[in-house]
Amino acid sequence: MTPIEALEKINQLSKDIDHHNHLYYQENRSEISDFEFDQLLKELIDLENQFPQYKSEHSPTQRVGGTITKNFDTVVHKYPMLSLGNTYSKEELLEWDARVQKGLREETYEYFCELKFDGVALSLSYENGLLKRAVTRGDGTQGDDITTNAKTIRTVPLKLKSQVPDEFEVRGEVFFPKEEFQRVNNEREKAGEDKLANPRNAASGTIKMQDSKVVAERKLDCYLYYLLGEDLNYDSHSESIEAIESWGFNVSPTYRKCSSIQEVLEYISEWEEKRHELPSETDGVVIKVNSLAQQEQLGFTAKSPRWAISYKYKAESATTILESISYQVGRTGAVTPVANLKPVLLAGTTVKRASLHNANEIERLDVRIGDIVSVEKGGEIIPKITGVDLASRASDSIPLEYITHCPECGTELIRPEGEANHYCPNVEGCPPQILGRIEHFIQRKAMNIDSLGTETIRGLLDQGLIQNYADLYKLTFEALNGLEFSSYSEKKGEVSIRSLREKSASNIIKAIEDSKQVPFERVLFALGIRYVGQTVAEKLAVYFKSIDAIGRATFEQLIDVPEIGDRIAESVINFFEEDKNQTLVNELKEAGLQLVIEEQQTEGGSDILANRTFVVSGVFESFSRDELKTLIKSNGGKVVSSISGKLNYLVAGDKMGPSKLEKATSLGVQIINENEFKDMIGDQ
Ligand code: IVH
Repeated sequence: MTPIEALEKINQLSKDIDHHNHLYYQENRSEISDFEFDQLLKELIDLENQFPQYKSEHSPTQRVGGTITKNFDTVVHKYPMLSLGNTYSKEELLEWDARVQKGLREETYEYFCELKFDGVALSLSYENGLLKRAVTRGDGTQGDDITTNAKTIRTVPLKLKSQVPDEFEVRGEVFFPKEEFQRVNNEREKAGEDKLANPRNAASGTIKMQDSKVVAERKLDCYLYYLLGEDLNYDSHSESIEAIESWGFNVSPTYRKCSSIQEVLEYISEWEEKRHELPSETDGVVIKVNSLAQQEQLGFTAKSPRWAISYKYKAESATTILESISYQVGRTGAVTPVANLKPVLLAGTTVKRASLHNANEIERLDVRIGDIVSVEKGGEIIPKITGVDLASRASDSIPLEYITHCPECGTELIRPEGEANHYCPNVEGCPPQILGRIEHFIQRKAMNIDSLGTETIRGLLDQGLIQNYADLYKLTFEALNGLEFSSYSEKKGEVSIRSLREKSASNIIKAIEDSKQVPFERVLFALGIRYVGQTVAEKLAVYFKSIDAIGRATFEQLIDVPEIGDRIAESVINFFEEDKNQTLVNELKEAGLQLVIEEQQTEGGSDILANRTFVVSGVFESFSRDELKTLIKSNGGKVVSSISGKLNYLVAGDKMGPSKLEKATSLGVQIINENEFKDMIGDQ
């Protein structure tokens, strides 16, 4: 390809990708499949690598992140970023309306209502249609330049298509979509990492992370609600909002023009309930005088505009009875007290449990069984107990005593200095810890042996067939076939005895066998070293290249790795200091797991097939079956042995059995031939 051709292709691809991004993220529809989209992106990344002179800082490839910023530059805001006056009361809102009316000397005026999005404020400046800079609010006068991180937000346009003013700023709120917050927290929980406290803090923490790749992985979003610039020629806020919407900015469709404060009050009531259905957290309504001339007339106080105010919804709370407290023991041995409540309706959902965090929290609240308690749903997803109705407490009530022994194995609990949590120190013998480690090991993102369900693992543990995850590699088909285990049906409320069928047994053995091909970074994550989640595992694997090197690494060497701090380094050292962990690792090594990064994995390969599964069947013209499997793996795909509804592709060769074909067809699995496969990977 000549440089001119490359440039043309790069431009065309960028345009197409921007177009598809816009459709997907702003209009919730798509014209092409995810796979086709990934292919366009991959083609662009490859071309930009080949012709770096044409790589633009506004290319859609910037969205995947990858740059590390040690210190963010400080930028002085051209227009200060003010805050808003706020109120929780309707009376105060009416008083504010009266002041507006007075300030405008009885002229008529309109309001513009928007929801108040609960995230972090961001200012985006554009020049000649290109994103120039993204800056946090900071202290209102100056903030941090976080442009590289902001570019990973899919709804922040890097390049505007339509005719736009030469220079302007748009401001809005970056937020963690509720679902995404849940997803990230589930993952962190599984990895034994602390959970993010609430979507707001998580958004503000994420946007200031040093590694933009991690920012890209957490799919933040952004709503814009303010346009600023010189000579923009709009008469009202609503016109400017409609304008930025038409330029491709993500504006929440929840806004409304109101001709009186009564209409504003209706808007407030309407959204009080409905706001829980929105993808983002909202904690109130922002009311703005619509006419820009009137805004100017009203002006500002030292801190905030007189033409706008926010009405905040009260954190929703309800009262109910604390029936009992359960203590859960996690994979790391940490004990979490959970309040079991008499079910109560709160913010649209029935709440039966609330988090009590730890012993300090119980002491602080002095909460007791039988108490009437208030539960609140703030920014957090899990409700919490915020208070106790002492007046209604029975006179003979006794203070709650925190458990001293593990509810699962009876071992005396410990509380390490400086930690709020109690731990069960019986790492080797405490059932939920053993089970938790194995469940962590087999999960899809780790060794992907999750055909082995929780109950089967329990059965294997109970019958002494395994004691740890390394023992999985000693299992035989004979040991599994017909294995009896107890299974609890929540529906029936009873325990029954089931036995493992031949087919399941052979599937499990196959999955265990296949897991030997799982790349090193995932094996490292699977080990369940505290604080070593997927991202950290990847960083360590890429940096040290082998388990032996990580096991030998000193504290100093570990904290030299970008993003690895004291806490992680200490945890890694502790893990490898334990003899039993050394034994586990050695057993995994003997079983043939990937404990080094294969150079060929990084060379000549790609991740174009990432997250896709393949079954290979039949005979092929251009390669052997094994070669084909290696090609799939070196391009990031996964080879599995059996056809299921979850399978993405069946690569079908000659002489393939008709039953496989039939099964794939009936399950709607995409069947491709070898040429189509070659096209997929760009025939490398
Ligand atoms: S307008 C000069 N509109 O709330 C007024 N702010 O308390 C500029 N916020 O810093 C702000 N949703 O971070 C405005 N629809 C909305 C908003 C909103 C959330 C945040 C923003 C601002 C803070 C003020």
